[in-house]
Amino acid sequence: QGQIDPITVAEIASIAKTRIKKEFWDYYECGADTQTVLHENEAAFKALKILPRVLRDVSKVDTSTTLFGRSYSVPFGFAPSAMQKLAGGEGEMDVARAAVKLGVNLTLSSQSTTSLEDVMSCKKKSSGGADPAFWMQLYLTKDPEKSVPLIKRAEAARYEALVLTVDTPVLGNRLNERKVPLVLPEGLHLANIEPSTHSPQTERKPTFNRRLMDSRTHEAAEAILKEAGGGTHSNSLTWETTLPFLRKAAPRMKIILKGIMTPEDAVLAVKYGADALVVSNHGGRQLDETSSTIEALPAIHAALATGSSELGKKNRIPVLFDGGVRHGADIFKALALGADFVLIGRPVLWGLGYKGQEGVETVINVLERELSRTMALAGVTNVEGITREYIGVKNVGGF
Ligand code: FNR
Repeated sequence: QGQIDPITVAEIASIAKTRIKKEFWDYYECGADTQTVLHENEAAFKALKILPRVLRDVSKVDTSTTLFGRSYSVPFGFAPSAMQKLAGGEGEMDVARAAVKLGVNLTLSSQSTTSLEDVMSCKKKSSGGADPAFWMQLYLTKDPEKSVPLIKRAEAARYEALVLTVDTPVLGNRLNERKVPLVLPEGLHLANIEPSTHSPQTERKPTFNRRLMDSRTHEAAEAILKEAGGGTHSNSLTWETTLPFLRKAAPRMKIILKGIMTPEDAVLAVKYGADALVVSNHGGRQLDETSSTIEALPAIHAALATGSSELGKKNRIPVLFDGGVRHGADIFKALALGADFVLIGRPVLWGLGYKGQEGVETVINVLERELSRTMALAGVTNVEGITREYIGVKNVGGF
């Protein structure tokens, strides 16, 4: 159509907006309640300024890093997001193919529209050298035993880690979704949860989530939870039981807790044996009146890096980060404030909507180039070198 290829994530988003059906676009975009933290996740990055160092040899900039002993050419991966086929192309398959082709780490949502086995099959078909790990996101069901078959499937399919999302004891108050309940189109289903033999001809039931969103009262939500045989999200998980349960269910997998927002919980994550944590507020879709993730990150990093009375430095676990990352400079800032690895959320969906697999690859390439350019301009040549000293705050330190 004579359109110029997009060269920023923002440009990818604006094209995607014209290609994704409005009700799905709204589902992807929305946050909870007043959408305050949804916007603050992005705005808080802008309040941070990079302090560049000059006259350094930056002729070779290396964006690679390692995580759980595996090397990645970029210090970012894909956050889990539900129902990617709504964005276009082949949804999760396109995301996985892009991840394999470019060697990017991926977390698959348990609420995906493609089965975890099909997603993993993308790796087998690829002959490329890069071997990024795939991780499986999980919500524990009210009766956690009912989640065990899914965990076992993920382990058998060689997912490296379980990413337990801990910020969703109940669903956030997403006003858009309550007003315009999401209905999966004919032929799409939650492939990990509903039977894989599901045929497009079968009368499609609304997804459980959709029905929960639809309900306007606490009583109605409770009734649906009961009817669904325990519910897809447990609201009674505790530190004491959850980690041991997951270890027993998946002894060979890493366990990552996603949705940690305080240093206290970060310390508990280490104490109870998590292998990593993700600083996340679920892209502003859960608790609205919380802080942006980039503001939450420094204290969490400090609690783990310096060690508390019960936590020595040797117990430090990788700190992952997501929320509002739209530019390579955002990745730089998150790494500088203590993240070991960054997860990309909505931009992946925008890439899919823009051009399927190729669009997702474009998102990766844009972010990679922006990050390496930012590193060169800031005078840093490798990821370990990106530290707190490169960050100033607006109006502080001479701005
Ligand atoms: C999500 N996220 C999410 N997280 C999770 O643990 N399981 C899930 O199934 C989903 N699904 C989901 C759907 C959509 C449409 C969005 C936008 C987000 C949260 C996701 O993993 C991540 O935390 C945020 O997307 C990060 O924020 P940004 O970068 O998208 O603003």
